[in-house]
This record gives sequence, C-alpha cells and structure tokens, in this order.
Amino acid sequence: MIKTVGVIGAGTMGNGIAQVFAQAGFQVVVQDVAEKALDRGRAAIEKSLAKFVEKGKLDAASREAALGRVVFTTSLDGFAAADYVVEAAFEERETKRALFAKLDQLVRPGVMLTSNTSSISITTLAAATRRPDLVLGMHFMNRCRS
Ligand SMILES: NC(=O)c1ccc[n+]([C@@H]2O[C@H](COP(=O)([O-])OP(=O)(O)OC[C@H]3O[C@@H](n4cnc5c(N)ncnc54)[C@H](O)[C@@H]3O)[C@@H](O)[C@H]2O)c1
Repeated sequence: MIKTVGVIGAGTMGNGIAQVFAQAGFQVVVQDVAEKALDRGRAAIEKSLAKFVEKGKLDAASREAALGRVVFTTSLDGFAAADYVVEAAFEERETKRALFAKLDQLVRPGVMLTSNTSSISITTLAAATRRPDLVLGMHFMNRCRS
C-alpha cells in the first residue's frame, strides 16, 4: 500500500506533483538540491492551496492538513520510507540517470521509480537501475493551478 511518495525536484512540476499527492492524502517527501527551489516550491503550494480556499473548493483545515503532509528537504534520506517515487528534476539525461542509480540504492526493492520526463527514454533511465521492470514514465501536465 502506498502511504509515502517521494518527489525529486521542487520546480514547476515537482511542487505541483507534490501538491496533488498531498491533497489526495499521501505523505510526501520533496527533495531538491537547491534550498531556494524548496522555498519557492513550498510558497507555490501555499499560494495554490490558499486560492482553493478563497474559491471555497477547500476548507482551511484541509489546506493545513495537506501542507502538513509535505516535507521539503535537500536530503534523500527520507526516500528509504518511500512507497512510490516521482522524479521531476532537470530534463538532462545524465542528471536523471545518476538520480535513478542513486534512488535504486536508497529506495526499498519492489518500489516503483517513475519519471516525469518529457523526452528522455524511460528504457535509458531504467537501465541505470537493478529494477528496470519497476521504472516507468508518469507524465504530469503543466496546467495553471487554482
Ligand atoms: N515545465 C513543464 O511544462 C513540464 C511539463 C511536463 C513535464 N516536464 C518535465 O518535468 C521535469 C521537471 O521540469 P520542471 O519544469 O519542473 O523543471 P524546473 O527547472 O522548474 O525544476 C527542476 C528542479 O529540479 C531540481 N534538480 C536538478 N537536479 C537535481 C538533482 N540531481 N536532485 C534533485 N533535484 C534536482 C532543480 O533544482 C529544480 O528545482 C523535466 O523532466 C521536464 O521535462 C515539464
């Protein structure tokens, strides 16, 4: 059963993906190499949730609960507890391959590792791991948020 989702990258896509999972009730660990990106990511989620509240689509308690489910960190340590992983780092093949190799070491066997890549071969990313059958593409769209 999936309880905790690990998201790599707190940029445009990563923070939106984290928000979607948090609003759906999952615990989320968002990791980024840049503290500033984590700060911006948190601010983007707060702003979006506030708009949902303004529009009456979310109550204040649910907003707080969703925010409380997201941890922002520069460390990958929390990924040991992840039951599902979505990678949304820069669109650079070697960056992603290195990340998949590292995630393969840190994340429990049997856990799926997914990429939000727009153009990089999933087979290439899968080949950087020892669990190629558990590597998949999970492409989120960049839509204007509430
Ligand atoms: N922006 C879009 O419209 C869009 C739509 C669909 C898919 N995508 C894909 O989603 C992915 C992310 O795109 P984005 O627009 O969010 O990019 P972005 O530049 O806004 O964010 C990428 C983040 O990844 C972080 N990062 C870079 N290397 C890292 C590493 N080794 N470990 C952890 N974090 C790292 C950066 O600090 C940055 O915060 C890309 O693969 C992109 O092709 C983007």
